[in-house]
Amino acid sequence: MKKFINAKIYKNNEATEILVEDGKIKEIGNNLADCKEVIDLGGKMVTPPYVDPHLHLDYVYTLAELGKTGAGSGTLFEAIEMWPVFKKTLTVESVKKLALKGVMDEVSQGVQHIRTHIDVTDPKFTGLKAMLEMKEELKDIVDIQIVSFPQQGMYTYKGGRELVEEALKMGADVVGGIPHYEPAREYGEMSVKATVELAMKYDKLIDVHCDETDDPQARFIELLNALVYLEGYGAKTSASHTCSFGSADDSYAYRMIDLFKKSKINFISNPTENAYLQGRHDTYPKRRGLTRVKEFMEHGINVAFAQDSINDPWYPMGNGNMMNILDNGIHLAQIMSPQDIEKDLDLITYNGARCLNIQDKYGLEVGKDANFIVLNGDSPFDVIRNRANVLASVRKGEFLFKQKPVEYDVKLDLGVKY
Ligand code: FE2
Repeated sequence: MKKFINAKIYKNNEATEILVEDGKIKEIGNNLADCKEVIDLGGKMVTPPYVDPHLHLDYVYTLAELGKTGAGSGTLFEAIEMWPVFKKTLTVESVKKLALKGVMDEVSQGVQHIRTHIDVTDPKFTGLKAMLEMKEELKDIVDIQIVSFPQQGMYTYKGGRELVEEALKMGADVVGGIPHYEPAREYGEMSVKATVELAMKYDKLIDVHCDETDDPQARFIELLNALVYLEGYGAKTSASHTCSFGSADDSYAYRMIDLFKKSKINFISNPTENAYLQGRHDTYPKRRGLTRVKEFMEHGINVAFAQDSINDPWYPMGNGNMMNILDNGIHLAQIMSPQDIEKDLDLITYNGARCLNIQDKYGLEVGKDANFIVLNGDSPFDVIRNRANVLASVRKGEFLFKQKPVEYDVKLDLGVKY
């Protein structure tokens, strides 16, 4: 048994101590039972681990491998065209080597849950084979969910739909889709229908790259939401990106928001990625590429933030730092009121867990795995304003890592005191 003391626990103003036995939380409170091992957290903020609910681990660092620093036009569609050329050169070993760097980036900054989309428009399933191995090999440090994702389309790529199904049989956890990339609206609709059918056939979750465009007429979210609503499958479904919903007119948007509430569908927004990729055909005003995050939060619709890309043809930056994603997201979505700040951390923790359907196992509660991170600050406002780094990550009661706050060899002296 061990006890973590002197903690500021997120969403719990009373307790300061966490008692851990056999890797699980035995008690949360104050003045808990004496233990041989007592770890003082120094009054720092403790939250459940970060969740990155949308990442492409088979793409990380491939931009550098391509010898490029960015796509010429910076558009989504140019990046999709760049990818197949590189894809031909991949091996299971080469995918694992780069993906491990991406996992390290994330885990070393407090992430313990990743949902990764893996391109299965590849008859050899190179990326999928690599990721299935890594999921097992890394399970002690990170939980990985795999999306069977047809990057080049279920129909644009001949046999794409069948490859998505085969990947589910091989062990992928989630069905993906990319309807806005299919060559006509009807094919996009067919792909949305196929996604839901496959999920129900194999009892899998759903996560669709949906309407990742500024075109307000891209409305595949409407069909996706309707299908999962009618099947009672909304809570198991996430719609990623939905950028066009940020360009939709208000009367349509509010009709849809009502339907999203009814279906309980989840949304995943990638603020840095889409701020970079979208608005490319605008002169001014230039759109931000963001879905209606603020309105979703106001209406109780689950929405999370994600990294999406780390140095790939879609986005040259990215380093797995979820606090950076949150910082960008709260600016773009304008969610910084005192009330917003109190729940903004949910966007990279609890809300992501709901997208992954792991809420029953996730969080700081008695009986759950003792998984949490320690942030360098003492309140949500403090850690968000300072973009606090993660001082420690604890998994099943053991440190994955810990570090000291910055210490100076020579400290700045202004030479005056007031
Ligand atoms: Fe993505």
